[in-house]
Amino acid sequence: MKTTAVILAAGKGTRMKSNLHKVLHPILGKSMIQHVINSVSPAISEKPIVVVGQDAESVMAAVEGQAQFALQTEQLGTGHAVLSAKPTVTADTDIVLVSFADMPLFRTETYAKLIQLQQQNTGPITMATVIAQDPRGFGRIVRNEQNEVVAIVEEAVATPEQLLINELNISAYCFDANWLWDALTKIKKSPKGEYYLTDVVEIAVSQGEKIQAIVLEDNDEAIGVNNRVHLSEAQAALQKRINQEWMLAGVTIIDPRTTYIETDVHIGIDTVIHPNTILKSGTTIGENCQIGPDTYIIGSQIGNHTKIFKSVLEFAKVGNHVDMGPFAHLRKNAHLDDHVHMGNFGEVKDSYLAPGVKMGHFSYIGNATINENVNIGCGTITCNYDGKKKHPTIVGKNAFIGSGTMLVSPVEIGENATTGAGSVVTKDVPSNVIVAGTPAKLLKKKDKDKQ
Ligand code: UD1
Ligand code: CA
Repeated sequence: MKTTAVILAAGKGTRMKSNLHKVLHPILGKSMIQHVINSVSPAISEKPIVVVGQDAESVMAAVEGQAQFALQTEQLGTGHAVLSAKPTVTADTDIVLVSFADMPLFRTETYAKLIQLQQQNTGPITMATVIAQDPRGFGRIVRNEQNEVVAIVEEAVATPEQLLINELNISAYCFDANWLWDALTKIKKSPKGEYYLTDVVEIAVSQGEKIQAIVLEDNDEAIGVNNRVHLSEAQAALQKRINQEWMLAGVTIIDPRTTYIETDVHIGIDTVIHPNTILKSGTTIGENCQIGPDTYIIGSQIGNHTKIFKSVLEFAKVGNHVDMGPFAHLRKNAHLDDHVHMGNFGEVKDSYLAPGVKMGHFSYIGNATINENVNIGCGTITCNYDGKKKHPTIVGKNAFIGSGTMLVSPVEIGENATTGAGSVVTKDVPSNVIVAGTPAKLLKKKDKDKQ
């Protein structure tokens, strides 16, 4: 069966009081609309269709390639918005799922369940509701004596009795496609001049059809974002959901309230996440690691048995049994291989530190290859930038770089060489020598027997 989704995102969301379109506000690093596309897409057979209007360009740019777009030039209501997607939906589509881009917590499984139920349904609509004490301005579900859904009443037009109803419309529906296109043309203008999608329920009922409705168990799925208070509720709910999933999968999270893990992160079992840690998109952490407190990691791969204490890692790679921090900073393409020790106040960028390298304190290593078991003394700097270009530094294995050494690149330090404290190295240093001075001059050859 051909199934597609129409995601409404044409209204600007004025209640956010923002220059940014509502659906572009991020929740745990991803825009609301991105969350909705991520959860809808696996449940349908076609590319979802996003209905855009206000700030159409920015909304389209945010999810380009992941969706098709339909333009609703004037925001005349949710029913009108769905109808504007009709020309984009192929004629042989069987089922149309409708969801709203301001409902970021909906799960793929729930969308899939709605579709599956509609596939078996002889009637035209399957929809989802929640029972909640706080109505949050949602439409109320009206049922008849047989407990069948007969209408959705918007809060603005509800009677005092209807306002007391605690079953709410969360705006996730599955429709028989042909029936939907016809019903949408039958919606009458509301007193506010809008065409409400919710009216299709009454249209179906007036045709003698039964509405299939499922009540969701997890009310968090129904969190819709209309203002920034809702935004923080949605963020807290998603944060809690993700943290719980990791805890149940074998990860210890010391303080879930201050742990922020984005959706595409992977963490191995027996890893401990300490308070105030942010694990952003594209990060993979192995088993038995200690991460945090006060750590920020984005787009990085980390091995097993590694300890990262109060540090920042951006698009970096870290091996097994590495020990980092506090206050270590890995920038893009930093690669710390197994058993590297990187202490406080160090920065590594575009560099490879081979197994066993030690870099205890206050160093900058950029565009460098540091081979096995090198000791980088306190305050060592690769002077890799001449104001125009970056140049490489290579340090041979077992070399000892004295405290405060300036490695003026391009430069290569031979294996087992030593630089004295405060050396400014402007020329390549052969293996097995000690150099010192400013700029470093050759002092003596190393005694071969003592190597
Ligand atoms: C809607 C439902 C309400 C439900 C609530 C929560 C209707 C009439 N009401 O109300 O029953 O309880 O959601 O899910 O459907 N949009 C367009 N074009 C328009 C109007 C809206 O694309 O012309 C988009 C908005 O950008 C937004 C979504 O539709 O993403 C919902 O619009 P919103 O104004 O937030 O509807 P609610 O008042 O929340
Ligand atoms: Ca809404």
